[in-house]
Amino acid sequence: MALFSKKESKIKPEFEVLPNHLGIIMDGNGRWAKKRGLPRSAGHKAGANVFRTISDECANLGIKYVTFYAFSTENWKRPKEEVDALMSLFKDYLLEAKADMLKAKNNKIKFIGEKEGISEDLLELMNEAEEETASHTGTTVYLAVNYGGRQEIVSAVNKLISQGREQITEEDISSNIYTYPECDLIIRPSGEQRLSNFLLWQAAYSEFWYSDVLWPDFSKQDLYKALSEFENRNRRFGA
Ligand code: FPP
Repeated sequence: MALFSKKESKIKPEFEVLPNHLGIIMDGNGRWAKKRGLPRSAGHKAGANVFRTISDECANLGIKYVTFYAFSTENWKRPKEEVDALMSLFKDYLLEAKADMLKAKNNKIKFIGEKEGISEDLLELMNEAEEETASHTGTTVYLAVNYGGRQEIVSAVNKLISQGREQITEEDISSNIYTYPECDLIIRPSGEQRLSNFLLWQAAYSEFWYSDVLWPDFSKQDLYKALSEFENRNRRFGA
């Protein structure tokens, strides 16, 4: 990480190498809330605010693609009130994003995951956000909602089968999963060191960065630490 420099009226550290695509597993909300004697939904709410800060910072730094793991296909197994609280946080964000879009935000918002199971009103907001930001040229912020890496690969294969394909190549899978590039770095806070069905295909050559900090306490400094370590990793891609 180089010296801080002033650009576009925002102070930011300069990195020589940035991940083209960063993946973030927002973990530890429940433990954060429990430590404070609060309901799990309070942890998710605090986590949603950190999502706002970190996605804006990724844009400030010029990271092209960032994917946040917001709700997995397995998360439906959680108590209904927790699932409802999460869905309502997504709605709040999209309503705000809609208002922000009228201002100068240049981020592109996209969703990855299955639509099935998501309420009509949330789906409508998701579609609107995608449509309204489609021409934006800044950071693409992918939100993985009702997402599972295995399900993503299976649905790509099913698409190919329905086209009558009998033999497939890696390129076929790459071009039939949700279209976004290889993931260069995955950040997982909260002390867990696993992928949890996140970006399975895209993470083939990802670097990983773990930290004990719980997601609601994750700060820009933590992001800089991860990016700074990434900058010094020797990536060989199997060569
Ligand atoms: C995992 O931590 C986190 C989730 C299942 C939800 C992540 C979602 C958010 C942070 C909200 C995102 C909001 C927007 C607007 C994108 P956990 O709750 O399983 O934590 P634990 O392991 O400590 O119990």
